[in-house]
Amino acid sequence: MHKEFLWGSATASYQCEGAWNEDGRVESMWDRYLHEHHLENGDIASDFYHHYKEDIKLMKAGGQNAYRFSLSWPRIISDREGTINPLGIDFYNRVIDCCLENGITPFVTIYHWDLPQYWQETGGWLDHNVCEAYDHYAKVCFDNFGDRVNYWATFNEPKWCLVNGYLIGNYPPGEHDVQHTMNAAYNMMFASALAVRTFRQGNYQGKIGIVHSYTPVDGVDDTIQTQIAVRNADNYSNNWVLDTAALGEFPMDLVTRLSQDYDISLMKPEELKIIKDNTVDFLGLNYYARSLVKPYTHGETQLQFNNTGKPGSTKIVLKDWFEQVMDPKSEFTEWDTEIYPRGLYDGLKKAYAKYDLPIYVTENGVGVREDVSVPKVHDDWRISYMNDHINAIMNAVDDGCDIRGYFAWSTMDLYSWKNGVEKRYGLVAVDFDHHLERRPKASYDWFKKVADSNGDAI
Ligand code: BG6
Repeated sequence: MHKEFLWGSATASYQCEGAWNEDGRVESMWDRYLHEHHLENGDIASDFYHHYKEDIKLMKAGGQNAYRFSLSWPRIISDREGTINPLGIDFYNRVIDCCLENGITPFVTIYHWDLPQYWQETGGWLDHNVCEAYDHYAKVCFDNFGDRVNYWATFNEPKWCLVNGYLIGNYPPGEHDVQHTMNAAYNMMFASALAVRTFRQGNYQGKIGIVHSYTPVDGVDDTIQTQIAVRNADNYSNNWVLDTAALGEFPMDLVTRLSQDYDISLMKPEELKIIKDNTVDFLGLNYYARSLVKPYTHGETQLQFNNTGKPGSTKIVLKDWFEQVMDPKSEFTEWDTEIYPRGLYDGLKKAYAKYDLPIYVTENGVGVREDVSVPKVHDDWRISYMNDHINAIMNAVDDGCDIRGYFAWSTMDLYSWKNGVEKRYGLVAVDFDHHLERRPKASYDWFKKVADSNGDAI
């Protein structure tokens, strides 16, 4: 791999920090939602807030040269007026400095789903004013951390958080509303472009991109009907984020189709111009699985995700658009995630050919139940999973794709949205029952060899 390739791991503020109401952090939409519904929450999570030095030292000892993490908006900005919380700034200054002292490059996501509750009160991503507020928050981040951060991502996975929040109803605010999903999506993509503009206007150092939950789409066969279903699924899963962020335009066929049944008046020409003029420098692609689709046959829209670990509870049918199917030849996790490294290779080739931008694989990993009461977790299956996916990346690099980094999800065990802490992804085990003790798993040792050898150990 290129000598500056980033070998790291990733987390998100809400999922690992804990300290949900310490040092001036205000409530986020996730705090409110999980508390109100009496669901397992991230109040403590992995308590990175108090363990960050130990965690960053472990990254270094594990051969990692980069750490992707997100900043918590409710920790940094206290209210709708944009008041800065100095203790929040102080915390992230300490995290960034600790990374640099340990030779770890910080790769910073500005927003990974923890919207302040004070914005959710007026509609969250449906309130157009949130775009400007996000832009202000992003500028505060650039001003305070920009002297030491060279990699910024405006958003983590607009598609995943908004579709879950506004269409499937699985995440806060728990709605099932196509029009709202569209409006929230437009606002988030516009906010992303505003932050890119602010970043460029401020001449900050480094590069700015966006992170997408990349779901490369395959069809069950090559018929015209299936090709149409593939295009529909690609528009639903990928194109509205990637085309908009990288090419500056929402996919025309998607907009035309949606405009037949829904209101698109939110899309103002002057704002579309800002989107067009402020495309990203790189793409962050999170890869967990592909989507295999067939043409829609009958029945109502069904969007059901597996949040229980009971195999077979996923159902995705978009009426008149496509149906997702499970490949009988594939292996799936208990959470119905297909293990399909080939999808990463295909997806990287497609994305690089289409967008011609540097790519970072910003998340890759697999969540399972694990017994972490043992001195060492021997997660050989995770090693094999990562090995096959990194191999897919290397094949894409050999074919000429400009891929510059790989981040394992996740650095340590943490809170998985709606699944709690039993769904573990970490390279380092966290014993949630015993003082949050950290114990590197076998995959951590294996990843060290890969990173130390710059991929030759694969
Ligand atoms: C990605 C998110 O979608 O997938 C992470 O960026 C998330 O925040 C990860 O944790 C795994 O998903 P889950 O639902 O299994 O935790």
